Formats: sequence, C-alpha cells, structure tokens
Amino acid sequence: MEKIEDYIELVKETIKFLREGKVVVCSIDKNNKPNLMTIGWGSIGIVWGEPVFIIFIRPSRYTYELIEQTGDFTLNVFDDKYKDIINYCGTVSGRNIDKFKETKLTPLKSKYVRSPLVEESIISYECKVIGKIDIKPEMIAKEIKEKIYKSGDYHRLYIGKILTCYKKTILDI
Ligand SMILES: Cc1cc2nc3c(=O)[nH]c(=O)nc-3n(C[C@H](O)[C@H](O)[C@H](O)COP(=O)(O)O)c2cc1C
Repeated sequence: MEKIEDYIELVKETIKFLREGKVVVCSIDKNNKPNLMTIGWGSIGIVWGEPVFIIFIRPSRYTYELIEQTGDFTLNVFDDKYKDIINYCGTVSGRNIDKFKETKLTPLKSKYVRSPLVEESIISYECKVIGKIDIKPEMIAKEIKEKIYKSGDYHRLYIGKILTCYKKTILDI
C-alpha cells in the first residue's frame, strides 16, 4: 500500500464487508495444512503505534488452536459470488474437514506470515499477533453477556499487526 489514503479506503471497504459477514480468517497447522473460518466481528485501527486488525475468536474454534500455535493469520474479503462458501466456512470446523479442498479455494503463499492468503479474495491482510486479550464476564455489559455469551465461550481478541495488505480490482463484465 503506497499511500495512507489508499489504506484508509481499503479499511473503509473492509468494514463494510465485515458487517456483511464476508471476511474469512485463514490460519495454518503445524503440518502446513491451512484452514478457513468466517468472521463477522473485528476492528481495524492503530494500537501501540501500529496498524492493527483485531479479531474475536471463541476458544471452541479450531482457528483458535491454530493461531495459538503460529501467532499469525490472514484476513480475506470476498464478494457476493462466494456467499455459499463463506457460509460453509462459518458453519463447519476444520478439525474434521479440509475447507480448502471442499470449497476449491486456492491458498497463496504469504509474503511475511506462515498462514496463506486466499487467491480468490478481493482484499486481504497479513497479520502477526502482537497481543491477546481475553473477554471476562465482569468486563462486559449485562445485555451483551445475555445476548452473546449464554453458552460461556468468551472470545479471545487477537491484536494482529498488519504487515501488508492487498487489493485486487475485479472487473466483472
Ligand atoms: C457470518 C459469520 C460470522 C462469524 N463470526 C465469528 C467471529 O467473529 N468469531 C468467532 O469465533 N466465530 C464466528 N463465526 C463462527 C465460525 O466461523 C464457525 O464456528 C466456524 O465453523 C469455525 O471454524 P473452525 O472450527 O474451522 O475454526 C461466524 C460465523 C458466520 C457464519
């Protein structure tokens, strides 16, 4: 990303896609098998003077295990064409399914992190974990607790330093 204005534009677009649940985290296991998981919550900003993407991952997710192992992840934004695939990546677990194989998406070697990018995405970010925060019941408002955490499984926030990001222009004509 050459200019700060380009980065800001990318962030604005990403927030829109995040709200629509079209962002997928990619992580990798110790045998180099990658996994995909859809996210709907996240935050992009500046923390400790660094550009960061903060994601919220419940400990029950296989992705949680993988990020714990490698300390990195990529974020991949998809357009509407991939609606069914995004939904699939958000409902089955990589513990027992190879989501790359099932979705026919293509892992692409990242420049700085072990977790791969996804070739078919239109925007992507490479992130290295520089901090973790566990949500504790006493930290959050009662109404959020009742709505989001009925089953416990409080999120861990991963503060990912954005090492690089990409935007692909797709002209569908
Ligand atoms: C639109 C959407 C958004 C989601 N957002 C999150 C999220 O932000 N954090 C989370 O822990 N799970 C979220 N999930 C659930 C996970 O994607 C889902 O449990 C997934 O199967 C976990 O995959 P894994 O076990 O391979 O990591 C979301 C699911 C969908 C469909």
